[in-house]
Amino acid sequence: MNLPQDLKNFVENSIDELNLREHPYFSHLLSGQYSKEQFIQSQNQFSYLVKHFSRSMASVIANIPSDLTRTAIVGNLWEEHGHGDPAKVHGKAILTLIDRLGGDSNQLNEKYASESIRIFNIALRGISVFEDYRISTAVFGAIERVFVNISSLICEGIIEQGWLTEDRVIHYALHKEIDTKHAEEFLEVVVDDWNHDEESKELVKVGIRLGLRLFTNVYSDFARELN
Ligand SMILES: [Fe+2]
Repeated sequence: MNLPQDLKNFVENSIDELNLREHPYFSHLLSGQYSKEQFIQSQNQFSYLVKHFSRSMASVIANIPSDLTRTAIVGNLWEEHGHGDPAKVHGKAILTLIDRLGGDSNQLNEKYASESIRIFNIALRGISVFEDYRISTAVFGAIERVFVNISSLICEGIIEQGWLTEDRVIHYALHKEIDTKHAEEFLEVVVDDWNHDEESKELVKVGIRLGLRLFTNVYSDFARELN
């Protein structure tokens, strides 16, 4: 299914307005102001977010009233779980990246999650369970779509700093490719609502803006914590 052009434009314009390349976390990463240890520290925290993400996704799915529109995201959820293959579960790739960078994923434990990561995880779970599905699916659609840009910037930063060669940058290399499709699958859920009435359109817009704010707050907090 193709998304309506005005919905696509709203998402793309909202992401452009974030000006991520100038955001403190990404600009510091790209200009070499973070040590590898500082970067690993932020990625250790990010792994606690990744680990939680598919659980909130499952809650979003439960709140979509139509089984037909739910289907595309069920596929995404299954993909997140490596289609049942434990070695391909998505949460594992970020751990491999941390190890390749010189960190130690065996030392990671969710009890060390920062307040910032806890706020993100709790908010996302709350949105998934309690918000209207037109808002919650848009939140996920926006997060998946902006993760394409974020993954590209992080790949660029890792390679630019000489921490890893391009072929060794797992996790982000994958997500900068697949998350446009994942975003579209979430947004497909609300296409009929978007086309149907202004109130629904407004709820979808609320979700897109909320998802982008919630997610970029994580990187703003990283930048604050690393300074
Ligand atoms: Fe994704």
